Amino acid sequence: MCGIFGSVLKEGRVAPIIHDGLKRLEYRGYDSVGFATIDSGVLQILKDKGRIDDVVESLGLDKMPGSTGVGHTRWATHGAPEMINAHPHSDCEGRVAVIHNGVIENFMELKEELLNRGHNFTSRTDTEVIAHLIEEEMKGDVGLGEAVLKALRFLEGSYAVAVVSATEPDKIYCARNESPLVLGVSDTGTFCASDVPAILPYTNKILYLRNGEFAELDKDGFTLKLINDGSTLIRAPMEIDWTIEMAEKQGYPYFMLKEMYEQPSSLRNALRLQQRYLDLLTTFLDRGEDLFLVAAGTSYYACIAASYMFSKLARLTIYPVISSEFVEQYGSSLGVDSVVLAVSQSGETYDTLQAVEHARMRAATVIGVTNTVFSSLCRRARAYISQQSGPEIGVAATKTFTSQLMVLSQLAMKLARTKGKISQDEVDELEEKMFQIPDIVEQVLERHGESIGDLVNKYVDKNLYIFLGRGISSATALEGRLKLLELTYVPSLAYPAGESKHGPISVVEEGVPVVFVCPRGESRKDIVGSIMEMKARGAKIISVCEEGDKEITSISDDVIAMPMGIPDVLSPIPYVVPLQLFAYHLAVQKSLDPDKPRNLAKSVTVP
Ligand code: M6R
Repeated sequence: MCGIFGSVLKEGRVAPIIHDGLKRLEYRGYDSVGFATIDSGVLQILKDKGRIDDVVESLGLDKMPGSTGVGHTRWATHGAPEMINAHPHSDCEGRVAVIHNGVIENFMELKEELLNRGHNFTSRTDTEVIAHLIEEEMKGDVGLGEAVLKALRFLEGSYAVAVVSATEPDKIYCARNESPLVLGVSDTGTFCASDVPAILPYTNKILYLRNGEFAELDKDGFTLKLINDGSTLIRAPMEIDWTIEMAEKQGYPYFMLKEMYEQPSSLRNALRLQQRYLDLLTTFLDRGEDLFLVAAGTSYYACIAASYMFSKLARLTIYPVISSEFVEQYGSSLGVDSVVLAVSQSGETYDTLQAVEHARMRAATVIGVTNTVFSSLCRRARAYISQQSGPEIGVAATKTFTSQLMVLSQLAMKLARTKGKISQDEVDELEEKMFQIPDIVEQVLERHGESIGDLVNKYVDKNLYIFLGRGISSATALEGRLKLLELTYVPSLAYPAGESKHGPISVVEEGVPVVFVCPRGESRKDIVGSIMEMKARGAKIISVCEEGDKEITSISDDVIAMPMGIPDVLSPIPYVVPLQLFAYHLAVQKSLDPDKPRNLAKSVTVP
């Protein structure tokens, strides 16, 4: 996730406005910054790594001349947070400046083709191919707008882009596919940005660009076209009545709710990983003798789920271990044949880094999955994958959890293919289902986003909750319980359902809510027995189960129905969503702030 901003003003310098716009988009990324402005027929690009205010100060970006310009704040996905990888990017001749948010999936092929045609690349980003594609099209003697449109047609993946050039000094060309882009019109000029808050100080007349749309901005407004055939569209901006604070949360009352609703799109991004990194990580896993998944908190629960995935799909035993326990538990037996896959959203969790350091000292191979490119974890790992969820502001991990699962399931699936332990047909079918998961999560949010608030109403006064599941669903139950615990502070338990009779059932009494996670499939086995066990002791049963599961429905007090046909091994991704919503609504009904749970920090960098 990155933030992009552009404006064509009727008069005055645009640079301070770009600065202000980017500040309001800083939540989207903050590892490098760059501006491009046009003045007296000259395009000037200045950029560097660092946070917005620091780079603006050190390069004097606020003083750049010109009333047309674009700016970018970056959250690295391809290429380190270095000056050369900061946006805007340009072509060989320095004629265009391109800013981009998204992931160009086919950039390697495009780059190779462009290199063969003699283009020189200066960065390691996917974005730079766009500038060179535009340059290539401009050789055909077409105008900038036409060249941008033609270049966009080569791109696969997600993008919100904005392009300026001294050849058309009072224009910005922009477009979107799956990454957000809004336009704004006012008496002072025209604007484009990744998000409404960046534009709101200047106008409340906003138009949301849709997928596959392209816009030409000048000082008086914009024209819209379809990218695929260049046909013109007519759509007027709407007037929105949000305050800036509301706009920062896109109208959601809390970041956590916004982030839960971002999951369909963050999951799509997690499906756009670069194959070569997936290949690299699977090669390391395949070579290892002793394999460990190491993480803390929510990331640890993703690891528990992943251990089922690796075992079921690739017949690979990989132990999930809580990072603070790792050195004590397995530290002495680690060696050159051990592989430690560390999973950390922040890449800065102290306990996880300690485990990683120890593993490195024992000559084990350390690989990583993280949301923060060039975090400490990335610097210490032999190879890592970025999950590409964008910054998460709510302290409780939501979209980063489901994306971690998506990345880990792709690794398991890749290993399943290479090891050939399950049939290719089975892997193909699963992979098809995996690509449907973002849509399924969207359906779940649509169906249950608000109604879970009503359900929670019935349980708001309870002072103990239990979350149960079997198999891979026990990981879902653990994560559901962690969300509830973090946000509502209500004591709660979670463990694999079969474990009840070995002790924990003693706490169950009349009216205790027990949430069962029971997707159709292997993990549903024996769950009816577990439900009956709890019912017999007076528990209130809330089941998250497949729609039409009559048996579970008939023995539950409340049911959260999930779409049919979700494979058990992928079920934690959609099945955790109602549990996130449950915790969120319970917190709100208890007048607690879900974004800032007490005693917790987003990133735990201390022992
Ligand atoms: O950044 P990490 O993934 O390493 O963080 C690990 C935990 O601190 C984190 O998941 C924590 O449990 C969250 N508050 C969960 O919502």
